[in-house]
Amino acid sequence: MEESRHPFLEGLSKHRGVAPTVAVIFGASGDLTARKLIPAIYNLGVDNLLPNDFHLIGFGRKAISDEDFRDAMEASIKEHSRRPIKPEIWQRVRDVMFYASADYGDLEGYKSLAEQIDGIEASLGRKVQRIFYISTPPNVFEPIIQCLGESGLAQANIDTPLASKVIIEKPFGKDLKSAENLNQLINSVFEESQVFRIDHYLGKETVQDLLVQRFANAIFEPIWNREYVECVQITVAEKLGVGSRGGYYDTSGALRDMIQNHTMQLVALTAMEPPVSLDPESIRDEKVKVIRSIQPLNLEGEESDVVRARYTNGLINGEAVKGYLEEEGIPEESSTETYAALRLMINNWRWKGVPFYIRSGKRMARRTSEIAIRFKRPPGILFSEEGRYNVSDNTMVIQIQPNEGVTIVMNSKVPGLETRMQPVKMHFRYATTFGSNTPEAYERLILDAMIGDSTLFIRGDETEASWKLLSPVLEHWDKLGAKELETYVAGSWGPALSDELLSKKNHEWRHSG
Ligand SMILES: NC(=O)c1ccc[n+]([C@@H]2O[C@H](COP(=O)([O-])OP(=O)(O)OC[C@H]3O[C@@H](n4cnc5c(N)ncnc54)[C@H](OP(=O)(O)O)[C@@H]3O)[C@@H](O)[C@H]2O)c1
Repeated sequence: MEESRHPFLEGLSKHRGVAPTVAVIFGASGDLTARKLIPAIYNLGVDNLLPNDFHLIGFGRKAISDEDFRDAMEASIKEHSRRPIKPEIWQRVRDVMFYASADYGDLEGYKSLAEQIDGIEASLGRKVQRIFYISTPPNVFEPIIQCLGESGLAQANIDTPLASKVIIEKPFGKDLKSAENLNQLINSVFEESQVFRIDHYLGKETVQDLLVQRFANAIFEPIWNREYVECVQITVAEKLGVGSRGGYYDTSGALRDMIQNHTMQLVALTAMEPPVSLDPESIRDEKVKVIRSIQPLNLEGEESDVVRARYTNGLINGEAVKGYLEEEGIPEESSTETYAALRLMINNWRWKGVPFYIRSGKRMARRTSEIAIRFKRPPGILFSEEGRYNVSDNTMVIQIQPNEGVTIVMNSKVPGLETRMQPVKMHFRYATTFGSNTPEAYERLILDAMIGDSTLFIRGDETEASWKLLSPVLEHWDKLGAKELETYVAGSWGPALSDELLSKKNHEWRHSG
């Protein structure tokens, strides 16, 4: 790669693979930028992973001076970065940060932005790649994409390694139709190879490790199928309620907010076939294939595969908390679910007959994201279950957060003169083995987008496959309104009906009651 003639960040980049970059963040005055994006970019700087020629332009409706933007970002790094500010590194990043303001649908604003970036290219004496990070609420995704197209920004340096890229935050659509429309618009402006749809779960170390656990070890893959697996349980549970975001949350709900994206990604990575290689398309091909193999869900009656509920008042950490309907900004006629549980049956050779139970909720007993693979019992010949032996299921738990790690639960003899059994746990903890200061998901994702590696981003057909499965559920719930909407006490593990979803097949949630 040609050396920079104006090396603003000379010495910062050990990652020679990252091209000179101008990153533009739309919605830069917002919460995500302050809490995640800027701290992530700063930490990439600390790790020498920013390109030598790196510039960042915040974009928003309010007029903010470059200096005020820099001050605000410095404050957010101090508050949210995993590492403290190192003045010499921050100063170098700070100096290449700017702010541009215009309405998101105002084409003139984008033409000025294009000129500003052209000016940076001229001052550097070299071409740069443009990365557009759309971090606004979804109601302005479309005008931003349209204006990126009409202003020529999307096409800058196309057909070269410096082609523009667009990173799009969640939510990607609110149902199948809107996701298809958004994909159509995006693909009319950008090539799919320029598009990076974020699901920040894919940036988490433990989620990436799932592929390593599965495909770099010989001991798991032979038993990772219907012959040995009894069921799979995926839980994404939050202790928090809706806080001050009730108005937004009420238009979304657990299925849209957590299941359609994060939880379905965990299903895909757990259940997919080995890809032919580690290139992005091979991995994404396998993920989409397995999502398409999931049977359409039964929505009614005894065989229903879906449960929804909302929390009522209860106790969290011993403190009284409000029920969902009493939260700020929630309309009294709300029928939004704060909890959803689904039973998925994957209709392929590997998984036929193995239920994948998935659930996500707010105000649950504990914050946890985990994948639990529950294995079949051994034939009860030697240590029979009905007898005096207490044989438990073998379970492998991949703990995504907190306390990232892997636990295997197995039966062991209690020391003593008689043969008694007890389930014991074998733990691997990331923090113990590798230390606790691992990169944040957004660091990995922003770096990958700058390099052009789309492995950890969602392809258009993946998001549509997931919506195709789940849109009928939303339509069904819309028709029901608040009718048959279950409740659960804040601080519990969800409604009784979700236990019944499992007990029909003689299963029970790992955490319940
Ligand atoms: N916050 C998180 O933790 C989080 C986590 C995962 C995903 N996300 C996703 O990331 C995106 C940004 O989230 P955020 O929490 O940063 O959002 P936010 O703070 O509500 O909004 C970001 C910025 O967008 C502009 N904006 C807000 N409401 C708008 C409206 N109605 N019309 C036009 N512009 C508006 C504002 O900037 P100006 O007024 O300066 O234009 C605001 O500062 C969203 O798509 C969200 O779903 C957020």
